[in-house]
Amino acid sequence: MRIYRAKDYEEMSRRAAGIVSAQIIMKPDCVLGLATGSTPVGLYKQLIEWYRNGDLDFSGVRTVNLDEYKGISRENDQSYYYFMHQNLFDHVNIPAENTHLPDGMEPDSEKECGRYEELIRSMGSVDLQLLGIGHNGHIGFNEPSDVFDKQVHCVNLTQSTIEANKRFFASAEDVPKQAYTMGIQTIMRSKKILIMANGEGKADIIRDSFFGPITPKVPASVLQLHNDVTLVADEAALSKIPVSFV
Ligand code: PGA
Repeated sequence: MRIYRAKDYEEMSRRAAGIVSAQIIMKPDCVLGLATGSTPVGLYKQLIEWYRNGDLDFSGVRTVNLDEYKGISRENDQSYYYFMHQNLFDHVNIPAENTHLPDGMEPDSEKECGRYEELIRSMGSVDLQLLGIGHNGHIGFNEPSDVFDKQVHCVNLTQSTIEANKRFFASAEDVPKQAYTMGIQTIMRSKKILIMANGEGKADIIRDSFFGPITPKVPASVLQLHNDVTLVADEAALSKIPVSFV
């Protein structure tokens, strides 16, 4: 694993955007696995800026997102569909048909999970998968569990995730209780993984994920088994890792 230490959120975002942009330049028809949340917002802003300057072309890029809440529509401003359009897709020249997310309005979980897993497979490997990390170590919505769920599946969100996400909703009751997410194997099939973290609040989980035992109780710890992972984090998020790695 490579670790890039950034001094703050801006530098983390720029460095991570540099890696995504290198991927697009090297392979203009690449498949990007995308993530939502507050962590990658600055990265998307930077990509938009480079696109506007004429340095990036998204016309051949294809994307698959990690996850989507179940039971909320695309028009809902808390849907990940809405987030991706607001934060990236509406500002660059990516063809709408090249962008993919799970369909949160499909009530039949088995049907939707099968469709999304098949879609990802049909696109070939994800060239670069972007990840954030939850305070409990979740990647996508793979919550701590007794097993690693392999493929796209429907999850019941944990109380800690509902608590963390309620800031975006009127109340905790309004946070959806389920989501569709890529599974651990779906994520691990990606050729390269770029994981980002910032802030002191992520320091414990970054240490536990990358320097602790590999266990489904800390889903991100499975990334220790992937051979091309880059962690881009700010100093605060890296403040608890062993000194020799800094
Ligand atoms: P955050 O979420 O970027 O808003 O901290 C990360 C995650 O839950 O994956």
